[in-house]
Amino acid sequence: MENNVIIACDFATKDDLYNFLKPFEGLNPYLKIGMELFYACGPEMVKELKDKGFKIFLDLKLCDIPNTVEKAMRNLAKLGVDITNVHASGGIKMMEAAKRGLAGSNTKLIAVTILTSLDDTALSQELDINKTVKEVVYDYAKNAKKAGLDGIVCSPLEAGIAKELGLISVTPGIRLAGDQKGDQKRVTTPHDAYNLGSTYIVVGRSITGSENPVEQYLKCVKEFGNE
Ligand code: C5P
Repeated sequence: MENNVIIACDFATKDDLYNFLKPFEGLNPYLKIGMELFYACGPEMVKELKDKGFKIFLDLKLCDIPNTVEKAMRNLAKLGVDITNVHASGGIKMMEAAKRGLAGSNTKLIAVTILTSLDDTALSQELDINKTVKEVVYDYAKNAKKAGLDGIVCSPLEAGIAKELGLISVTPGIRLAGDQKGDQKRVTTPHDAYNLGSTYIVVGRSITGSENPVEQYLKCVKEFGNE
């Protein structure tokens, strides 16, 4: 089923992932593989999932000096994933280097702006940034565009910024009505994300932590206007 709902597969082991995926047979959901599984299972598992036909957003959020990021991206380019990312806070030169590293692959590159677990208070009190989340997302998104990236990771509340700049937005911080927020601060429902103009939504615990993940997934798909 082609749709723009990405499931955040934050599991500890490959067995946990495959057990989770069993009831999804035939639905072929878009998967986000992040640090937890990648550090546990490595690139082989990502290749295996691609061979099985899954679309993959490899969410490793690279942030280092340009030379290191370019070389790391050269290795990630070989995996054939659909989307991968860097932190926009690494700067324009780093984002350009990441893009060079992916040259020759079809992998889209996006930049994480401000984590959805942070809010205005955390920016000023912990990170010494005296601007609002929205202002920083706007500045970082402009940098991502300058560096030639395809889009940004942001909360749906800032999806309009991506749209305005002609970038795609991949938006975590999604909760179905009534679900726990957990560590996320800026959350919206799939329905609101759709109305706010998100290109993709990333949903983790609202699906993976539920008694009936397929039902929750299909709810997200429906609410996100895909059906
Ligand atoms: O469980 P939950 O729906 O909160 O999961 C959201 C996922 O999106 C997590 O895997 C997290 O790493 C990721 N993410 C995020 N905020 C960002 C970028 C990625 O929550 N800015």
